[in-house]
Amino acid sequence: MEMWTTPRRNQVLQVLDTIVLLGIVLVLIKINGVESRKVRVLDAFDYSAIDCSRKYSASLTDFGGVGDGVTSNTKAFQAAVDNLSQYASDGGSLLFVPPGKWLTGSFNLTSHFTLYLHKDASLLGSQDESEWAIIDPLPSYGRGRDADGGRYISLIFGTNLTDVVITGDNGTIDGQGVTWWDKFHKGKLKYTRPYLIEIINVVVQRLTILAPVTSPNTDGINPDSCTNTRIEDCYIVSGDDCVAVKSGWDEYGIKFGMPTKQLVIRRLTCISPFSAVIALGSEMSGGIEDVRAEDITGINSESAVRIKTAVGRGNYVKDIYVRGMTMKTMKMVFWMAGNYGSHPDNNYDPNAIPVIQNINFRDVVAENVTMAARLEGIPGHPFTGICISNATIGLTKKPKKIQWNCTEIAGVSSNVTPQPCNLLTDQGPENACKFPDDSFPSVEI
Ligand SMILES: *[C@@H]1O[C@H](CO)[C@@H](O)[C@H](O)[C@H]1NC(C)=O
Ligand SMILES: *[C@@H]1O[C@H](CO)[C@@H](O)[C@H](O)[C@H]1NC(C)=O
Ligand SMILES: *[C@@H]1O[C@H](CO)[C@@H](O)[C@H](O)[C@H]1NC(C)=O
Ligand SMILES: *[C@@H]1O[C@H](CO)[C@@H](O)[C@H](O)[C@H]1NC(C)=O
Ligand SMILES: *[C@@H]1O[C@H](CO)[C@@H](O)[C@H](O)[C@H]1NC(C)=O
Ligand SMILES: *[C@@H]1O[C@H](CO)[C@@H](O)[C@H](O)[C@H]1NC(C)=O
Ligand SMILES: *[C@@H]1O[C@H](CO)[C@@H](O)[C@H](O)[C@H]1NC(C)=O
Repeated sequence: MEMWTTPRRNQVLQVLDTIVLLGIVLVLIKINGVESRKVRVLDAFDYSAIDCSRKYSASLTDFGGVGDGVTSNTKAFQAAVDNLSQYASDGGSLLFVPPGKWLTGSFNLTSHFTLYLHKDASLLGSQDESEWAIIDPLPSYGRGRDADGGRYISLIFGTNLTDVVITGDNGTIDGQGVTWWDKFHKGKLKYTRPYLIEIINVVVQRLTILAPVTSPNTDGINPDSCTNTRIEDCYIVSGDDCVAVKSGWDEYGIKFGMPTKQLVIRRLTCISPFSAVIALGSEMSGGIEDVRAEDITGINSESAVRIKTAVGRGNYVKDIYVRGMTMKTMKMVFWMAGNYGSHPDNNYDPNAIPVIQNINFRDVVAENVTMAARLEGIPGHPFTGICISNATIGLTKKPKKIQWNCTEIAGVSSNVTPQPCNLLTDQGPENACKFPDDSFPSVEI
């Protein structure tokens, strides 16, 4: 008890370790330029912590919570958050979730607030649809991803918040997504499936995110229309992309116009047998720019970095820098597709051609690969400024005959094996692709 009633900064940071997310539906992390509590200002690459110490704390059981795995705790969670929200401007608060299985529907977070899960606490997503409110689609998407109209609110939801921490001593948040997946497969859902967590203003750090590799659309993390986001030291097993960077869908995303930019992804380990370690798109209609990915490990994945877009998406994916990828057993290392399709409706603008430009990969070692790259731009609108250097791609016993299939692209290469396509002009050895060494503007946390 002592540990959570008076959490001191260091203790809490020590336990800011792993939240295990089992059977997740999806995780969407949204970060906008929301102001946050000013604890300290550091270089963007060095800001670490969120200050977890809070003046007030309470346990879920204080609000009638029952951790028997059967009783619904939706009201208890919301009552707790409502109660604790009064301390937002007075030192903040912490809600402790004790050992137990805490079944709950969706609840909302509040500002200056820590949700802290004991290591033997499991938060279980309710399978009763009435426990999940229907909310409007994101304005940048225009409609739900699965169906017209609204979408189920996420299990843990927060909007317009400041200084929120979800942490614990390796507790578990289990969305129990399988019932949603079954309904999705059987076409029984009227609205779009919920995310596990949807929140504004986060650093995503030291998370383990697990979904069955056959579960539909279970991206690990979706930074969507986010500025100055950092995702680091995460281990993700996914039925879809491990990290999929997005910014809105066709005409809705173009109109909303909020790019994802200044995104850092580092020290990510991913298993994604049917999708990408890192995907950019396909919904990129607000633009994606200035992404830096480093120290990326992919195992048994379909592709390493994949750019997915289509005519109608508009805007751009540009200034992407990737350095240090280690890949083992992979269908394709590099994949770019300008014909991804998938439109919200027929009102997309056929003249909204996405511009894909300045995409850099260096220091890549891959083993047991079926095909090095498939790079397809949009006919008449090539993807340009592609640079690949210092990449050694070892092939599987039965590799594709054609290792580099390139159409409608332009760029350079240096020190890459197997020999890249002619559209990636060989610069000779010692011509490394760029990786900027400046850092992003500082972020206050
Ligand atoms: C909630 O807040 C009030 C103060 O406004 C307090 O008196 C009360 O005990 C709190 N806790 C619970 C469990 O209701
Ligand atoms: C949570 O917030 C959403 C969006 O603001 C709202 O629609 C919903 O009713 C809130 N839920 C509760 C329980 O207050
Ligand atoms: C966001 O929160 C701020 C401060 O709490 C408030 O002034 C503002 O009205 C909120 N905006 C929205 C869109 O809810
Ligand atoms: C956290 O929980 C996961 C899954 O329950 C387990 O594999 C892992 O070893 C735990 N980590 C720590 C540090 O206890
Ligand atoms: C080439 O990439 C490997 C693997 O990342 C790295 O160890 C090596 O230093 C790189 N070589 C150069 C010249 O950058
Ligand atoms: C190599 O990849 C193939 C699939 O192409 C897989 O079946 C095999 O197990 C992998 N081998 C190793 C040693 O990982
Ligand atoms: C190469 O890619 C094109 C599409 O850009 C496809 O039509 C063709 O079949 C591919 N060729 C091989 C050998 O994979």
